[in-house]
Amino acid sequence: MIIHINDKPCEAHTGQLLLHAGQLNKSHLGYVCGGNGICQSCFVYVRQGAECLSAPSNIEKAFISEKLFAEGGRLACQSVIQREGDLKVLTRAEHLRRIVLGLNLPGFITYAETIGYNVRTKLPDGAGNLFERVRTGQMNPGDSLGKIGNGLFHASMFAVSSFMESFPFMQLPASLLLSGAKAVYSGTAEKTPLIERVKITAK
Ligand code: FES
Repeated sequence: MIIHINDKPCEAHTGQLLLHAGQLNKSHLGYVCGGNGICQSCFVYVRQGAECLSAPSNIEKAFISEKLFAEGGRLACQSVIQREGDLKVLTRAEHLRRIVLGLNLPGFITYAETIGYNVRTKLPDGAGNLFERVRTGQMNPGDSLGKIGNGLFHASMFAVSSFMESFPFMQLPASLLLSGAKAVYSGTAEKTPLIERVKITAK
């Protein structure tokens, strides 16, 4: 079946996590905690076809306020595509990008208010959910931290590439940054002199 993430058609199938469909289609979907329902970077707004997805999990209920649910909020790492239909979602990053690029000040204020309200009202529930999962052995903190470290690297790559897409005139400085981060991550930074990395990037 075809679903739409940020208005781009993506291949997906029933039984698949929305997060995985997004990843396979290189959609702008974060997954900083590796799908553990901690980071919220996979948050999406379901614009159409909410009935195609599984019901909100306990993790989503702990982290997402009624207000955000009413706006179509879901965590892609917790949402399974259960039936075919016209599913359309917008990632949080894309939602914010459109607000900023459209110079939509009222939209930005509403966005900030809703997120602020969510943090204020759901922080105790979210913390309680995490504590309970660790206590009952459903989540291993060490394993989760490793996933978060790995996810943060991919998230930073994602942020830079999104930035380049939005502001093409910043491509050279951003690609230098990207190249440096990749070299550090792969452990080759020391082996490759900076001047060489700059030459490679500039090609
Ligand atoms: S990937 Fe972290 S909450 Fe979904």
